[in-house]
Amino acid sequence: MPRSQLMTMFVFLIILPHIALVSSSSLRPGYYSERCPDAEIIVRDVMKRAFVREPRSVASVMRFQFHDCFVNGCDGSMLLDDTPTMLGEKLSLSNINSLRSYEVVDEIKEALEEKCPGVVSCADIIIMASRDAVALTGGPDWEVRLGRLDSLTASREDADNIMPSPRANATTLIDLFDRFNLSVKDLVALSGSHSIGEGRCFSIMFRLYNQSGTGKPDPAINPMFREELYNLCPLNVDQNVTGNLDATPTLFDNQYFKDLVAGRGFLNSDETLFTFPRTSKFVRLYSKDQDEFFRDFVEGMLKMGDLQSGRPGEIRRNCRVANSATVDHLVAEPQNRMESNHKSI
Ligand code: HEM
Repeated sequence: MPRSQLMTMFVFLIILPHIALVSSSSLRPGYYSERCPDAEIIVRDVMKRAFVREPRSVASVMRFQFHDCFVNGCDGSMLLDDTPTMLGEKLSLSNINSLRSYEVVDEIKEALEEKCPGVVSCADIIIMASRDAVALTGGPDWEVRLGRLDSLTASREDADNIMPSPRANATTLIDLFDRFNLSVKDLVALSGSHSIGEGRCFSIMFRLYNQSGTGKPDPAINPMFREELYNLCPLNVDQNVTGNLDATPTLFDNQYFKDLVAGRGFLNSDETLFTFPRTSKFVRLYSKDQDEFFRDFVEGMLKMGDLQSGRPGEIRRNCRVANSATVDHLVAEPQNRMESNHKSI
């Protein structure tokens, strides 16, 4: 085996923290039907209000599912604020100056705590709100599996080690997703989430001016689109200026894939899905068949939503802060979480 491949294996097996795919039997639809029957309605209402207030905010919240579930499972860890003794995920490389709309989750949590205190986890809020973001912007609607616990802690280092860079190419992304049992098809379908939302100039400066150290732009960018991007992000730009991730940024549709085929992908990690043979067939397929995209996207979201670390957890009262660390505040792990029908990575 080549040395570079051995190194990659080493990083994933040794450095990346232990993640397990726990059997989805511990998560189920209708989990709150008895203790908080209106939970899903409450989440959707707040998301609707957020969408009316600022359409982009629902895309920003939808991104949380990816950034939460990939770092030690879907456990709300990315919502924790730093403390004097804990450097959380908010200031990690991929999240700093980038993840936004945390206040929408706060609003959801407050509404839920008012109706049924101490019942609905922040981790489940992310899953419900992400689904709602897609449904509210014209995408598919689906039943989510619920019953997650919130983590007791968070780790900036873990987020830095795991979350991919916008410079990533398809091979790196395929390998990363594979570690989470997500297929090439899942990778492409889930990247279709970039059908909504925006990205910063910061994320594309290298591909506009110095792709792979060449001092030149990424040749995969359509020349007319390149001019648009140069206008948006000149060399001296404030790199927090944002551009749309596809031509219809408040509509969840398959325009993103049509854009990739036309060389109009915003991020390098997007366009690479069209230029690499193993991923391009799915890009072509979804650019022609929106229903197929929607079906595969839902499947991917459900699989990603099942990622669990198996660590103990709690129902946080405030999504930004772990409850008191005293043992009697911890919710015991339900038995079926511990029965390990899971794949270790
Ligand atoms: C495949 C690997 C992925 C990479 C490398 C990636 C990277 C990025 C980057 C760099 C941005 C723009 C951030 C900025 O410039 O501040 C972004 C935005 C976004 N990402 Fe991803 N992403 C990936 C996959 C996903 C997945 C799986 C989802 C959700 C299922 C997702 C949802 C989003 C959304 C909705 C936005 C727009 C957020 C907003 O407008 O605030 N991404 N992503």
